[in-house]
Amino acid sequence: MKIDGVPHRTIWPAADGAAVEVIDQTALPHAFRVQRLTTEAEAVVAIRDMIVRGAPLIGVTGAYGMALAAQDDAGDDALNVAAMRLSDARPTAVNLRWAVERMRLHLLAHPQGERVAAAWAEASAIAEEDVESCAAIGRHGAEIVRKAWDGNRPVNILTHCNAGWLATVDWGTALAPIYAAVEQGVPVHVWVDETRPRGQGAALTAWELGQHGVPHTVIADNAGGHLMQKGQVDLCIVGSDRVAANGDVCNKIGTYLKALAAKDNHVPFCAALPFSTIDWSLKKGSDIPIEERSALEVTTATGMTADGRIETVRLTPEGSRAANPAFDVTPAHLVTGIITERGVCAASAKGLLTLYPEQKAAS
Ligand code: MRU
Repeated sequence: MKIDGVPHRTIWPAADGAAVEVIDQTALPHAFRVQRLTTEAEAVVAIRDMIVRGAPLIGVTGAYGMALAAQDDAGDDALNVAAMRLSDARPTAVNLRWAVERMRLHLLAHPQGERVAAAWAEASAIAEEDVESCAAIGRHGAEIVRKAWDGNRPVNILTHCNAGWLATVDWGTALAPIYAAVEQGVPVHVWVDETRPRGQGAALTAWELGQHGVPHTVIADNAGGHLMQKGQVDLCIVGSDRVAANGDVCNKIGTYLKALAAKDNHVPFCAALPFSTIDWSLKKGSDIPIEERSALEVTTATGMTADGRIETVRLTPEGSRAANPAFDVTPAHLVTGIITERGVCAASAKGLLTLYPEQKAAS
């Protein structure tokens, strides 16, 4: 996707071939910075501190983290330890474990002397697959957007958090259908949930939609239900960090409330995600580990002052405790459809297996 009209990705191997570079998402939307990751430890920090975030992107960063680890020590023990450290950097998005495990198994199958080259090649393959998957999600999801268009007013789509190209290598998951529909000439307006506490909607989704000229309005997280009651939302599309085998969708905290409001107001509620987000080993969403993040994310807010300084301020009384569960689970019965790179299916075990029949043998 584009920044100031120039095509860009969120992660890429550095020109010298010894590092990987990423967009520092903690600086957006106020500054555009690129960060160079030279070691596996730096990749762990980038994932943990959300310099990179979004399920598919942390998976790809984990893959490149394994390449950085192999550069340092390509022995079996070192790679096993690196895989554990990278996988543990964030607990909820299954893409991270999926990508790191794929790298680990791939590298252990090579003689030690070939592992560095194999690691860079495999990490790049994972990144390219992510781009292809997201582009296909865009094509399939655009059909849903097109069908929601009455030929007159723009399709009003509500999204939560950031599941755009910044959450992936390119295109995005929830926003890919929007970009594809806009390219096809379907007029769209996006309601962007600000997504407290970290504000991925207000900071990142608004920024990337703005870069692409997609009309959008940032709303407080609590506004979505009201807008649905007023008939101002035609469709909800969200991403996901992990989908259980029964179609329960885990996503950024607050997604469940949007799904409840959508159901009550007969607004279709779709989740868009690549195959790497489906955890076939978990029967139901309540088994998904939910990340607990720092209370400081709730008690403070960071932004730009009128004179251009970035400042963090406290919002709560000193001494008030805060809790910060980062994700919630939307039960499958509230999800109208799951949009994947293979097409759209019902949010159910049967629906998912229709698109991924090869998982039948394993289930
Ligand atoms: O905590 P984050 O920013 O990594 O969480 C990402 C999300 O939850 C997104 O909403 C998204 O739906 C999953 S990534 C496409």
